[in-house]
Amino acid sequence: MDTYVNKINTPSTHQPTQISESTSTQPFTGKVFLVTGSESGIGRETARELARQGAAVMLNGLRPDRLLETHRLFAEEGLLVDTCVADVTNWDDCQRLVDTTMLAFGRLDGLITNASVSMRAYFNDLDIDVFRTVCDSNIYGTVYPLKAALPYLKASRGSVTFISSVSALNGLPSGSAYCAGKAAVSNLAHTLRLEWHDTGMHIGVVHIGFTRNDPDKRVFDAGGQPVPIAHRPPNLQMTQPQVAQRIARHIRQRRQITVLTGTGRLNAFMSRYFPHLADRILLWSMRRWPRMYE
Ligand SMILES: NC(=O)c1ccc[n+]([C@@H]2O[C@H](COP(=O)([O-])OP(=O)(O)OC[C@H]3O[C@@H](n4cnc5c(N)ncnc54)[C@H](OP(=O)(O)O)[C@@H]3O)[C@@H](O)[C@H]2O)c1
Repeated sequence: MDTYVNKINTPSTHQPTQISESTSTQPFTGKVFLVTGSESGIGRETARELARQGAAVMLNGLRPDRLLETHRLFAEEGLLVDTCVADVTNWDDCQRLVDTTMLAFGRLDGLITNASVSMRAYFNDLDIDVFRTVCDSNIYGTVYPLKAALPYLKASRGSVTFISSVSALNGLPSGSAYCAGKAAVSNLAHTLRLEWHDTGMHIGVVHIGFTRNDPDKRVFDAGGQPVPIAHRPPNLQMTQPQVAQRIARHIRQRRQITVLTGTGRLNAFMSRYFPHLADRILLWSMRRWPRMYE
């Protein structure tokens, strides 16, 4: 397969790759997935896992060099992937991203809305434009790819997985816009599941907990400057491949909601059934481990 990057404003002229409906025992053989924000991090490992389980995968990101490098590594492994540079907060880009996927592979069976930018700043100090950027990335960066892909996902009775966070379930100090954005898409998933109950489509949310990050991962500070993420206790973190395997299982089983990590599930349970106690534990944890919340 060709190695190429579809740059913004240069739509692909490729003929679709024939996706075989083979009798292979691989769960995703013959299926095509689009994973946003898959040039790095959890998105990259999710794309790798889906491709290892037989899928053809469209990779996406903002940086052509990183996207090409990810494509090269996957191609070396013999995985069927293609790439498209597109900003998921831009509607025209999202239409082109979906068009490129259809041109490359001829069908679409699954969308994983993974691309996101995060933050570490208290609301008091937060520049209002940074709040909007983080919300845009998490909300419109989910809505636009979904809206663009919808006709094809309906046709294939496909699967949609919103990548959310445990922090969408009960908030996280220094993450106001991020938590608000992730909570918005969790609610959107529920509404769409009801609206599309008779379409045969799968609409799911994966609430990810603490995960080991790429060393160069950056989030916004109060003024919008890129900074490393806050400290996370290593023993509480899943690895990216572990998270990717859980996302693949979530899709295979067409689950509505998956909450990752023991701490995440405890968090979800406590904030639902014992919200005051959950807040007190979180406030205690802020005093005990302040580096996690700055
Ligand atoms: N890591 C965790 O502990 C954790 C916990 C809970 C939830 N999550 C969620 O898991 C997902 C992946 O997180 P991660 O840790 O893997 O983050 P990451 O390493 O920062 O990866 C995010 C990816 O999204 C891309 N991206 C960002 N904005 C984009 C845009 N507008 N258009 C296209 N691509 C864009 C980034 O590209 P560039 O590098 O070019 O910017 C990057 O490839 C996110 O939804 C995140 O909220 C992560």
